[in-house]
Amino acid sequence: PTPLVIDTDPGIDDALAILLALASPEVDLRLVTTVHGNVELPQTTDNALRVLHLAGRSDVPVAAGAAESLVHAQPERAGHVHGTAGLGGVVLPASPAPIDPRPAVVALAELLTTSAEPVTVAAVGPLTNIALLLRVFPEAAARIGRLVIMGGSATRGGNVTAAAEFNIWADAEAAQAVLTSTLPTLLVGLDVTLPTVLDEEDIARFAAAGPIGTQAAAILQQYLAHARATYGTTGVVVHDALAVSEAIVPGTLGTVRRDVVVDTGLGFGRGQTLVDRRTVSSAPTAVDVAEQVDSAAAVEFLVTRLASLDRG
Ligand code: BDR
Ligand code: CA
Repeated sequence: PTPLVIDTDPGIDDALAILLALASPEVDLRLVTTVHGNVELPQTTDNALRVLHLAGRSDVPVAAGAAESLVHAQPERAGHVHGTAGLGGVVLPASPAPIDPRPAVVALAELLTTSAEPVTVAAVGPLTNIALLLRVFPEAAARIGRLVIMGGSATRGGNVTAAAEFNIWADAEAAQAVLTSTLPTLLVGLDVTLPTVLDEEDIARFAAAGPIGTQAAAILQQYLAHARATYGTTGVVVHDALAVSEAIVPGTLGTVRRDVVVDTGLGFGRGQTLVDRRTVSSAPTAVDVAEQVDSAAAVEFLVTRLASLDRG
């Protein structure tokens, strides 16, 4: 299996993304690093520990990363979407495992440097930790096999402002550093996540599988209510889980190599990903942008895998 790190801010869809990775034999989840984002860092870290414990995988180390964005403090969190504690009002049992004593970037650098095989990193929160890794441990960062990011939008506008997707908006300077680096990056944005909707029937299928599925479904209930009230939809968009699907099975999404920059100005466009769709780029800093998705297949993959957690 491919060694995998998930850099995350759980977060409801982050929780599903972690569970999905644990359910997938193609990858070996070696490390979870946490970052500020949907809620404050101590909470995202605690949530990551609890989600691993739910799946009986407290052996996976959790290292805490950045508590704030690089330059401008994030003006607001996303408690209104994910619940004030980040997991949709569900209190999962506390994990017996301690937080890894190493800072996230140190844990990441050590894994990248010692792994015999290239490591895939799935970054599904603000990109602060990845930007710090690039700056502090550039040689370790250069060993990343694949960097799959949930973030940005090429054609769909934003979800936190008219221009910006949440993860990019929450640390625009970090996103700009990462997306203009030479890391082998694949960007999974709103273009492919928004059409990929998990409806109540899908949720019921893994809820029926057993206690882990039941808890995963419970975590989704508040998200479902938010989606209904905000967008009038009957399902939820599980952004981070789609990115992790692509990390698990490369080629799930159709991608095109593009030049991408981030608006780091302080105006209305802050946090927008400017994806140059005029040309296919061959620049070393270009990014594989996900432009096509088979949403039905992605939902089926997620539901089947989540259900399999209870079936052992
Ligand atoms: C992203 O923002 C967060 O709220 C979600 O967890 C996801 O990573 C979607 O824009
Ligand atoms: Ca997230």
